[in-house]
Amino acid sequence: MFDSFIRLVRDIYQTDQFIPLHEPRFLGKEKQYLLDVIDSTFVSSVGPYVGQFEAKIAEYCGAKHAIATVNGTAALHVALLLAGVKPGEEVMTQPVTFVATCNAINYCGAEPVFVDVDRATLGLSPRALADFLAEFGEQRVDGVWNKRSGKRIAACLPMHTFGQPCDMLGLLQVCERHGIPLVEDAAEALGSHIVGSNSFDPSAVSANEFAPTPATKHAKYCGTFGKLGVLSFNGNKIITTGGGGMILTDDDELARQAKHLTTTAKLPHAWRFVHDQVGYNYRLPNLNAALGLAQLEQMPLFVQRKRELAERYIAWANDAGVEIVVEPVGARANYWLNALLLSDEAERERFLTDSNAQGVMTRPLWELMPNLPMYSHCQTDDLCNSRWLAERLVNIPSSVVS
Ligand SMILES: Cc1ncc(COP(=O)(O)O)c(C=O)c1O
Repeated sequence: MFDSFIRLVRDIYQTDQFIPLHEPRFLGKEKQYLLDVIDSTFVSSVGPYVGQFEAKIAEYCGAKHAIATVNGTAALHVALLLAGVKPGEEVMTQPVTFVATCNAINYCGAEPVFVDVDRATLGLSPRALADFLAEFGEQRVDGVWNKRSGKRIAACLPMHTFGQPCDMLGLLQVCERHGIPLVEDAAEALGSHIVGSNSFDPSAVSANEFAPTPATKHAKYCGTFGKLGVLSFNGNKIITTGGGGMILTDDDELARQAKHLTTTAKLPHAWRFVHDQVGYNYRLPNLNAALGLAQLEQMPLFVQRKRELAERYIAWANDAGVEIVVEPVGARANYWLNALLLSDEAERERFLTDSNAQGVMTRPLWELMPNLPMYSHCQTDDLCNSRWLAERLVNIPSSVVS
């Protein structure tokens, strides 16, 4: 199985050299737009590409507003602040995530509480969330309080792992029942979407069709389900701005505040410097936005190639008798990173050692968040599925094939 995997990856990428997990592709107007920015001298925090990039992302995702930020972590920080997370409060999230999700909670002075993921989605489980709230939640006039910690549960922050959509309709139901604001960490999930909800018609989309850009009434995109959603354009993501992020929201006032907070809370004026609160210098530079705009123009191609790549891996896995992560029923994933589920920890270790020794980069799941020293004291449920996944999962090379 190991040998046939290495042969497959080398055949896909047509190289004997090192094959990384994910590298960017610049196949469009990147150089043209970057040169335009340099010629204009507007390389920093002011310039037309920021607004254009925001408008195009909002249109692509079907969000009313998109606010660009310097990276996805900054976007998460501000999104949580705007959802109302305050020092001494708690945020429900999943242990299967990149550390930035929890760090953003920490920057607000709050603490994560970890509940399990579903194996089918790799994302926060509505059932686990409902069970936790039934056991520990106490409904008061100002929201839900955790009976064990005595702290208010200020928000819920699911993450769409490797671009596989969480069960958002289930999570929304639980959050709405308890009056908990939902913020989505869609850092990895630009373009991933769900077909079907009360407001759009699932029967109108055939099972294998990936909704063309932009979002239609038949498809709802990751990052647009909650009060606020967050994207990342880090170098390893499906499109990159070098470093960058985006806050999505349909709420006009939240969008205004997001722009204000991420741009040092400066009151608009031609020459005076007046700031009305402690804001953040989280603006995305015009230079990075230009790169992002050129990348976004290639999203249909990138998604198509990613899904073709996933199909090749799925066909191989079926032949080799290996379990592979496939999109959940009713979801269309961008397949940002493909993942295998090996039979146990020992096989996973052999696979990681063998593939990396042969110059094909593979990696295990992130260390579960409550295993990290900063988050080891945080409350969890049994995390049964998260531990199961952590023992078996490996990510395999997933760059767009050019
Ligand atoms: C799940 C998740 N959340 C947040 C981030 C943070 O994004 P950034 O690196 O742009 O700060 C990333 C990726 O880097 C991520 O994968």
